[in-house]
Amino acid sequence: MERQRILCVGLVCLDIVSVVDKYPEEDSDSRCVSQRWQRGGNASNSCTVLSLLGAPCSFMGSLSAGPVADFIMADFLSHAVDVSAVVWQDEGQTPCACCVVCPSSGTRTVVLSDTNLPDVTADDFSKVDLRQYKWIHWEGRNADEQVKMIERVMMHNSKLPPQQQITISVEIEKTREPLYQLFPLADVVFISKDVARHFGFHSAEAALRGLYSRVKPGAVLLCAWAEKGAEALGPDGMLIHSDAFPPEALVDTLGAGDTFNAAVIYKLSRGEHLKDAVTFGCRVAGRKCGFHGYEGLRAQFSNE
Ligand code: ADP
Ligand code: FRU
Repeated sequence: MERQRILCVGLVCLDIVSVVDKYPEEDSDSRCVSQRWQRGGNASNSCTVLSLLGAPCSFMGSLSAGPVADFIMADFLSHAVDVSAVVWQDEGQTPCACCVVCPSSGTRTVVLSDTNLPDVTADDFSKVDLRQYKWIHWEGRNADEQVKMIERVMMHNSKLPPQQQITISVEIEKTREPLYQLFPLADVVFISKDVARHFGFHSAEAALRGLYSRVKPGAVLLCAWAEKGAEALGPDGMLIHSDAFPPEALVDTLGAGDTFNAAVIYKLSRGEHLKDAVTFGCRVAGRKCGFHGYEGLRAQFSNE
């Protein structure tokens, strides 16, 4: 079997995106410029971008049957994202986010309802045939279970020669203590500026230097920082920086981080250098900020 797929494990939700020309006052009643439904969730968005870049990918996360899940599944299908690892839960609702995108200020404000749908477990993950994947990415969520999933992959890897092993990446975006146990488990670790700030760092560089001791020997630690671009630190101790690539007009920053992660994973999974991967991540994420949604990435980068 050809091991070529990338699997992303994490959230899928419905994003109801309202585009406004001015961010609304609290307790006001205003009209938006446009509104749309969009499939969201970090791991799900990263799958969209991987697929648009031309990488075969699969999504693993929970859904609850109903009209929202129907919309989500149709969208996965139209983006050629494999959904055979989706776990259908008998109880709970598919998460939904109200997203306010404000191009004049470049903000995206998200209120997510993610209350009662069980997350995928290590038991669910034990049914996944690992042989088809070259890379598995986890969006940090239910960390205790995710640790067990990653340990399964480590066990699988320990029986294989290095070139056949699955690369493990994690995203630590939220400032929740249990997520920090993911630091030493992955080959590639993405942290957010929220996490950097939570640890008392005021720049990506300071965060990477300060947190590198938490990752395993040989691992790569990355931190994106909106219009400042992104930094990465690998085992050679050389800090790598890419400036941001601001679009002509800032339109929609929702999912910029998920786009960056996907573009970095895309390049690293093809054996390219960290410097090229970080620059590409910023280029693709910057481009994405110049239009609504993700569709504008289609075919733009697929030959690179
Ligand atoms: P998020 O908040 O969505 O997790 P970040 O704000 O950290 O993501 O941004 C991820 C990447 O997206 C940045 O490294 C940058 O390359 C790009 N990006 C985000 N916001 C902007 C912006 N305002 N201008 C240009 N690029 C941006
Ligand atoms: C963007 C995103 C949205 C979703 C929210 C969940 O990064 O994944 O699609 O509504 O974050 O936190």
